[in-house]
Amino acid sequence: MGVVDRLDRPLRDLRVSVTDRCNFRCTYCMPREAFGADFAFLDREELLTFEEITRVVRAFARHGVRKVRLTGGEPLVRRDIERLVAMLAAVEGVDDIALTTNGSLLPRKAPALRAAGLGRVTVSLDSVDEQVFSSMADVDVPLARVLDGIEAAREAGFETIKLNAVVKRGVNDDGVVALARYAREGGLVARFIEYMDVGTTNGWRLDEVVPAVEVVRRIDAVFPLEPLDPNYTGEVATRYRYRDGGGEIGIVSSVTRPFCRTCTRARLSAIGELYTCLFAAGGRDLRGLLRGGAGDDELAAAIGGSWLGRVDRYSELRSAATAAVPRVEMSYIGG
Ligand code: GTP
Ligand code: 5AD
Ligand code: SF4
Ligand code: SF4
Repeated sequence: MGVVDRLDRPLRDLRVSVTDRCNFRCTYCMPREAFGADFAFLDREELLTFEEITRVVRAFARHGVRKVRLTGGEPLVRRDIERLVAMLAAVEGVDDIALTTNGSLLPRKAPALRAAGLGRVTVSLDSVDEQVFSSMADVDVPLARVLDGIEAAREAGFETIKLNAVVKRGVNDDGVVALARYAREGGLVARFIEYMDVGTTNGWRLDEVVPAVEVVRRIDAVFPLEPLDPNYTGEVATRYRYRDGGGEIGIVSSVTRPFCRTCTRARLSAIGELYTCLFAAGGRDLRGLLRGGAGDDELAAAIGGSWLGRVDRYSELRSAATAAVPRVEMSYIGG
């Protein structure tokens, strides 16, 4: 069952951005110079309602989507987000609901999210050094609050908690072993992500990317590693386990070793556009259909049609030429 695109890739995952706002200003994602006090974020009426999101997810499930990840911006700044989780948990066919958060609101929100049926949590954490954390997140929130958030997620009963660290040369690359150690000790899965050229505001430069192999080498030198098979075809992170049984890590090498070949991910922006690639310049408007009175079949047909025509493989084609093509910000389209 399900639709495949022009490169024979099925549609399996949907990443839903529930807001373009965030209480952090990570330099690689929402640099303060570009996302300042006068930045025009979306108005509330523009955002899809929870009912609208659920309808869209139901239509995606008809095409084979099994996994939904809530993102943003910061998904936990959207009021009553647990209500959406509960609505999505009831969608037939969707068996995995995950959320990517900066963790700062987890101390308050974790129990309600768990009770609503959220399956998994990934916390963005770039460093366990207070100063490095603060300079990367560019916010007054203390590191301890994020660590408390992780603890709250654990106490709420989330079993696999993953940490996402974007590694930038000369900024937090010296801290990857410390981060790996923190995760190991807490039974968390640390994932190290190559700094990507998403959006156009972060001033990305290739020489700031730390290749995944280098991260593996650094960690392996202290805690010996061995490769693991993927959990499923098309998994974004390459897995390694500690030889001493201390758990596993993941490496996301979208710059040095792109994984477009097996990319089964669609993205839904906060205003209801369907994007078939993280690096797309534009998306297909589904909100117009929703608000224009389209039926479920029409909605599903629009989604299926977009996927059928999909040829995206930006990371594989990345070059000076692709760098010049306009593309949306990650905080808008959803990490
Ligand atoms: P699991 O469901 O736990 O395997 O998570 P995931 O594979 O969906 O990973 P997650 O959402 O934590 O993604 C980790 C990071 O990988 C993201 O924050 C992005 O930086 C990057 N990433 C995820 N999906 C894509 C993608 O489709 N293309 C590219 N280029 N990068 C991606
Ligand atoms: N490169 C790589 N990952 C990024 N993220 C945001 N911006 C970038 C970037 N430029 C990811 C981080 C974060 C998630 C919300 O988005 O992994 O955890
Ligand atoms: Fe916010 Fe996450 Fe982007 Fe950081 S990476 S600015 S926490 S959305
Ligand atoms: Fe998928 Fe586009 Fe990322 Fe390639 S660059 S893995 S096609 S989202």
